[in-house]
Amino acid sequence: MVEPPAEGQVVDPMAWFESPGPLEIEIGCGKGGFLLNRARVHPEIRMLGIEWANKYYRYCADRMARWGVRNVRVMRTDAQFLVLHHLPPGCVSVLHLYHPDPWPKKRHHKRRLIQMAFAQAVVRMLVPGGKWFIQSDHEEYFQHIHEVLGACAGLEETSWDEDETQPGPDWAGTNFEIKYTREGRTIHRIAYQRR
Ligand SMILES: C[S@@+](CC[C@H](N)C(=O)[O-])C[C@H]1O[C@@H](n2cnc3c(N)ncnc32)[C@H](O)[C@@H]1O
Repeated sequence: MVEPPAEGQVVDPMAWFESPGPLEIEIGCGKGGFLLNRARVHPEIRMLGIEWANKYYRYCADRMARWGVRNVRVMRTDAQFLVLHHLPPGCVSVLHLYHPDPWPKKRHHKRRLIQMAFAQAVVRMLVPGGKWFIQSDHEEYFQHIHEVLGACAGLEETSWDEDETQPGPDWAGTNFEIKYTREGRTIHRIAYQRR
């Protein structure tokens, strides 16, 4: 639905939408359940879903088109590059990151999305007071996230706000949240705010 930016290009995300409004991003939107529901309940918000797996990107983009939601855009790209190199400072009100891939093997830890350089880029892209909500079923990755973001000077921990993380009263959770809850796994949640 929107093309990834060209190398070196800093984008104006509002140019992707029909009218301006606060921008929220979901990284790893998968099949788009959260994106669709939040966009429908909050037409005043502009939602950008980022998904790198072609299969899920296509599913999600088709789903948004079928529902005719006008305040959602989906981009197929690696969120790390978009956040680090292409988004301007202070353009995002809320970042949603639900069940990021944990890369459990030690030799794969360097592939994890949450590293200090990424965290600092998120701080830069958030508006002052902007929120970052993270949910994970993976205990060890969650601890890693807690350590990295706890050491990131631009962020402070804040409360988990269900108004911002639950699209509506009937919301049952993201696909992975539903699946892992059924399996009896603990779902860890944490929220940060840009200082
Ligand atoms: C475990 S799934 C979670 C999907 C959904 N958020 C949920 O909770 O059901 C992680 C998703 O993030 C996507 N993903 C992982 N790393 C990404 C990255 N760097 N940029 C964009 N998408 C990414 C994967 O392709 C996958 O669809």
